[in-house]
Amino acid sequence: MNAQSPYVIHSLELGPMANFIHVIEDRGSGRAAVVDPAWEAGEILRFVRERGLRISDILLTHSHYDHINAIEDVLAAHDARVHLLKPEAEFWGRGPERPILHHGGDRIELGGTEIEVLHTPGHTPGSACYRLGDDLISGDTLFVFGCGRCDLEGGDPEQMFHTLKDLVARLPADTRIHPGHNYSVAETSTLAEEIEGNPFLHFDDVQRFVRYRMHYHDRHRHEPYGPVPRGQEMP
Ligand SMILES: [Fe+2]
Repeated sequence: MNAQSPYVIHSLELGPMANFIHVIEDRGSGRAAVVDPAWEAGEILRFVRERGLRISDILLTHSHYDHINAIEDVLAAHDARVHLLKPEAEFWGRGPERPILHHGGDRIELGGTEIEVLHTPGHTPGSACYRLGDDLISGDTLFVFGCGRCDLEGGDPEQMFHTLKDLVARLPADTRIHPGHNYSVAETSTLAEEIEGNPFLHFDDVQRFVRYRMHYHDRHRHEPYGPVPRGQEMP
């Protein structure tokens, strides 16, 4: 992100689960998109008010409670459109009224900022990442040196394996990652740093990945997550 960038990403850490609520500010228009509004609507609203912004859009990475529980309070204060992927809406089965349902590859215009919606299943069936410029807002798909759980309802570790492979294949190495939780030694990192130190990006064998995600990781690794050298993920 440089001085010419049409947007700024502000990351608020809120609530008891170390959620990051990212506010994308479009500099030219004063519009803001809030990603996964949750926990403390008052803090989110105060932040945008102090910067003179208007929330025109709410972007959801997925429908888990800790990512959506302030939607209604934000909507009570701002006329915002709510965006999520169609498969996530179907998985969720309820949610806000009249959302805009997307397919992977759709683009959202936030003033002069273009945001691409990526379908990244694995944590939930309709999990999304949002790509803008050199930034990726990665929800509970990709954490700094970690990835989202796949053992909850709708989770699928094989899908997560392919989702992570696809992200690595299609995104430039200098892409900056903005995850949905602060679980790690750093709040953000680059894809290059992740390829080097994120154990979930080290597997070439899907069954080994599944074993690591479902049976090994949570018992042997603890927050804050730091880098793991390639080859040292599990015996
Ligand atoms: Fe989640």
